[in-house]
Amino acid sequence: MQGKQRSESTIYMAFILVTSALKLFLILRNILSMKVSLRVIVPEDAAAVAILSAQLGYTISEEQTLKNIKAIIENENCEAFVALCEDDVVGWTSISYNIQLESPPSAELRGLVIDERYRKKGIGKMLIKKAKEWGREKGLSLLRLRCNVKRIETHLFYSYLGFVETKQQKVFEITL
Ligand SMILES: CC(C)(COP(=O)(O)OP(=O)(O)OC[C@H]1O[C@@H](n2cnc3c(N)ncnc32)[C@H](O)[C@@H]1OP(=O)(O)O)[C@@H](O)C(=O)NCCC(=O)NCCS
Repeated sequence: MQGKQRSESTIYMAFILVTSALKLFLILRNILSMKVSLRVIVPEDAAAVAILSAQLGYTISEEQTLKNIKAIIENENCEAFVALCEDDVVGWTSISYNIQLESPPSAELRGLVIDERYRKKGIGKMLIKKAKEWGREKGLSLLRLRCNVKRIETHLFYSYLGFVETKQQKVFEITL
């Protein structure tokens, strides 16, 4: 009887091991076969971009997102890129040419978000690389960004990619 119980638990353990290995294999296969590409944003991205903006913490309609995309496309000092996985938009970044009176022009990353389901797969890094290339093509030598102090995980991401924290700020607003 004891021998039978032992062999049943051995079979059960083997079953768990095999199914776990299979799951791991499928996850790895999905990650490795994932084809990600980047391109400049187009008006047709509005719906997907609005959904991702919500993941960034901004509630914005598809209609307003479309207006924003069109404004970016028409402004040569602004650009936005989306990351595609197959045909799905899974991330976006926007960047601008920043002119200040008191310092030389610089590139500014205006926003960056990756779909929650696609994080930690190298897509954020790809978009940062693209933003850096855009800045260099514009003749700029500095890329700056602002990041909410609450986004501790994101600070680690930027530090990992070589960004250096230079200061902390407060943001003030007034209705016009
Ligand atoms: C921050 C964010 C854009 C990062 O994108 P991502 O696609 O998940 O990051 P990546 O997979 O490209 O990471 C690139 C590298 O940074 C590392 N990294 C990512 N997140 C990290 C973290 N929290 N801590 C340490 N390293 C991190 C990765 O391990 C990876 O290293 P590798 O190149 O050696 O593999 C994404 O997590 C996100 O959308 N977060 C919520 C929105 C947000 O905070 N946006 C920025 C607003 S300023």
